[in-house]
Amino acid sequence: MPAAPDTLKTSLGSVDLVSPIVLAAGTCGYVDELAVALDLSRVGAVTTKSITPEPRTGNAPMRVLDVKAGMVNAVGLANMGIESFIRDKAAAVRDAATVVIGSIAGFSVEDYVQVATSFAELGTMPIIEMNVSCPNCEDGRLATATPDTLARHVRAVREVLPDQQLFVKLPPDTHGLVPLARAAIESGADGLTMVNTLEVLSIDVHTRRSVLGRARKGMSGPAIHPLAVRLINDVYRGVARDAGVPIIGLGGVLDWEDAAEMILAGATAVGVGTSLFVDPASPKRIQKGLRRWVRSQGCHSVTELVGAHEEG
Ligand SMILES: Cc1cc2nc3c(=O)[nH]c(=O)nc-3n(C[C@H](O)[C@H](O)[C@H](O)COP(=O)(O)O)c2cc1C
Repeated sequence: MPAAPDTLKTSLGSVDLVSPIVLAAGTCGYVDELAVALDLSRVGAVTTKSITPEPRTGNAPMRVLDVKAGMVNAVGLANMGIESFIRDKAAAVRDAATVVIGSIAGFSVEDYVQVATSFAELGTMPIIEMNVSCPNCEDGRLATATPDTLARHVRAVREVLPDQQLFVKLPPDTHGLVPLARAAIESGADGLTMVNTLEVLSIDVHTRRSVLGRARKGMSGPAIHPLAVRLINDVYRGVARDAGVPIIGLGGVLDWEDAAEMILAGATAVGVGTSLFVDPASPKRIQKGLRRWVRSQGCHSVTELVGAHEEG
């Protein structure tokens, strides 16, 4: 009997994935910490915590808040810095059971170039993601201030990544996202990851002060899902489809229906973040549902459904 078709196999540019499900930056440890709960060889990719040139302690605790329709965080890019990452995590990256996407954060063009150069030298991460959209630290979104500033950052990083796919992670801006996406693509991005957390404010009504140490924080989870779907569809139709550039869609994906919606909106792969805090094994459940859905749509491959949303 011929082997069953591999319904969930897909690719991000030249990188093949066993599944469209990707573990999102900052929600699954540095590399392989979630292997205790999940068979990583069954997920499409894991994304590293965003790495900066220097170690960062991040914002003061408390940094995470449970809200009615998701989660608010003010982690502030806490991470071990590139030197420790290369020293302590190179083996985990090399031996990872799945594709590892290296995430970079920074506060200047030089920061991004420095980390990208080290990632390129490591040579074991075929996709590098520029986090240019962190809302919960000072200057975390300098690079996306305008399409021109983003273009400058992307061009500089592109130059030091000759062999890797370069993805740019965009903020959930409700206006002006297509021009940002276009600037990233025209400056050399091979793909887009969207969306990062939404910048929000939560107030403690007793103290009248901001809940959590910082005024501005990042919202993730179900509340941002429909917004993410709309933005993915806008960018897919506005620029990514014609440019042949894949999108990793994320924002509030908790179950297979959420993931399927993102795929129909135009996402080639789907990131899972907040869901991992509720149930670290949720990607397994999501993939099972997706496999059934693809067949129920009369398709052999999930790739046939990318962008298949019918308007109207
Ligand atoms: C606690 C926490 C930490 C995060 N850290 C990062 C990070 O280091 N880099 C990054 O690009 N995104 C980071 N994110 C954003 C997620 O990768 C994702 O874009 C966002 O949470 C939306 O997806 P979700 O609703 O599935 O969580 C973080 C999110 C959370 C909740």
